[in-house]
Amino acid sequence: MPDRTGTLRFGVDLGTATIVIAAVDDDDMPVWWDFVRESAVRDGVVVDFQGAVKAVAHLKRSAEAALARSIDEAATAYPPAVPLADCRACAHVLQQAGIECRRLVDEVSAANALLAVADGAVVDVGGGSTGVGVFADGKLLSLSDRAGGGHHLDLIVAGRLRLPVEQAEAHKRSHGAELLDIVRPGIERIAESIRQQCGNRSPGVVHLAGGALRIPGADAVVEHYLGWETRSYPHSDLITPFGIANS
Ligand SMILES: Nc1ncnc2c1ncn2[C@@H]1O[C@H](COP(=O)(O)OP(=O)(O)OP(=O)(O)O)[C@@H](O)[C@H]1O
Ligand SMILES: [Mg+2]
Repeated sequence: MPDRTGTLRFGVDLGTATIVIAAVDDDDMPVWWDFVRESAVRDGVVVDFQGAVKAVAHLKRSAEAALARSIDEAATAYPPAVPLADCRACAHVLQQAGIECRRLVDEVSAANALLAVADGAVVDVGGGSTGVGVFADGKLLSLSDRAGGGHHLDLIVAGRLRLPVEQAEAHKRSHGAELLDIVRPGIERIAESIRQQCGNRSPGVVHLAGGALRIPGADAVVEHYLGWETRSYPHSDLITPFGIANS
């Protein structure tokens, strides 16, 4: 049962593939998580304002009912390299849904609020883009984001299996292991993007957050391509949302 007495901190991740709400308690432990698949935001740019507001309002209502408390404020995040005006639009989505934006962070730093990497790369491969933060001695050395993520793998699956993209995406989630050979070139493209965003040199361990590399074996493809030590996490898609709540 969730603790209904202590303070909770909320985070809303306005992703390209999913909009997620997450809550942590006073000890930074996860207590709530919910999502809707929604493409109202693309790479940090709100392309369907009302759609995004509706999704956040829905997530707010269900969380309030389940946790028996009102959600007045939350943090949210944007992909690194997004112009300030677009980041502000993310905050406005929350406000319109009745949530005050207490903090706006970049999603790689948010992921690292949870992973706490002092030396290495924090990589968030989402639906639309791949963000990379390189850390050394606890300091952020570089932060960038490039197009390319799970959606591009969907396009490969759709083309090969002659499926509509939405169906290809669902098939990829349920039958990922069988599709590894088909999507391998797409995963290698993501790995190449990671390599370049790391300045073409090993940052130390590469930590993989985001949902796109949840295909079984995708982490090994990335590690083999890069030749750098790579660490993956179960439910890597929840690292950034809970990191946002933690921020
Ligand atoms: N079990 C799974 N197997 C394979 N792919 C998955 C799985 N779960 C999620 N994905 C893929 O992960 C991607 C979504 O990841 P995530 O939720 O991190 O993205 P996002 O935050 O919405 O996007 P972005 O950060 O690029 O704006 C989608 O392409 C989805 O198909
Ligand atoms: Mg994301």
